[in-house]
Amino acid sequence: MSRKYLIAGNWKMNTTPSESVDLITEISSLVGQQSQVQVCVCPPFTSLHKASSLVEQSQVQLGAQNMSAEPSGAYTGEISAEMLRDLYVNYVILGHSERRQYFGETNESINLKVLAAVQNNLKPIYCIGETLVEREENRTLDIVKAQVIEGLANFPLTEVENLVLAYEPVWAIGTGKTATDEMAQEVHAYVRGLLTDLFGDIPGSSIRILYGGSMKPENASGLLSQPDVDGGLIGGASLNAKSFCSIVDSAIDK
Ligand code: 13P
Repeated sequence: MSRKYLIAGNWKMNTTPSESVDLITEISSLVGQQSQVQVCVCPPFTSLHKASSLVEQSQVQLGAQNMSAEPSGAYTGEISAEMLRDLYVNYVILGHSERRQYFGETNESINLKVLAAVQNNLKPIYCIGETLVEREENRTLDIVKAQVIEGLANFPLTEVENLVLAYEPVWAIGTGKTATDEMAQEVHAYVRGLLTDLFGDIPGSSIRILYGGSMKPENASGLLSQPDVDGGLIGGASLNAKSFCSIVDSAIDK
């Protein structure tokens, strides 16, 4: 089963709208017209409007970092799927560990967002991953199993082609510590097995599983060589156009 690599940049709470314009312009020009690898940037909400007009003519797609599970109404401070679609947003990161850790998101609450995303033609990038304590207690596979099963409950088979997962070991995020190629592959292969159990062999093996956690130009090639690593969700290194595009180049070379 051939899966197209996706390299996505999670800019987190960085860049003003004008800084986003500069960064997207540089990334778009470095990415050029290649279409072997899909490229996506996820700036803050406040940059999406400007960004959407910039990416129109480019190979770079747009993603958001979160959204509400609710369609509209009295939810002060929230952003709906429809609002994102109107700005030509394609992807939405859901269940990032920072949202689980600081904003109380759970597998159950994230599940509602994942379902709302696909109902509104947005592609969820559903994040899973264990903490350091969970890894040290040998609970990694149990944790990701619960995240996959509970976070994807009632996910419609017809939408599997729009689903992306990102395995992000929490201890590797922003720490400079990366999972070894083998550690990443072990969890990715396990998640692949869960996905084929849930959706069947062919649909399950078509779902892309990205790796995230201190991915950078120096380690991208090894990680992307693993059979079940289908791209990257990049934090820090995505804020520099050259670093980010060097990771895109590593994926093109595969
Ligand atoms: P870093 O690449 O900065 O470790 O962040 C990874 C991440 O959280 C992407 O969503």
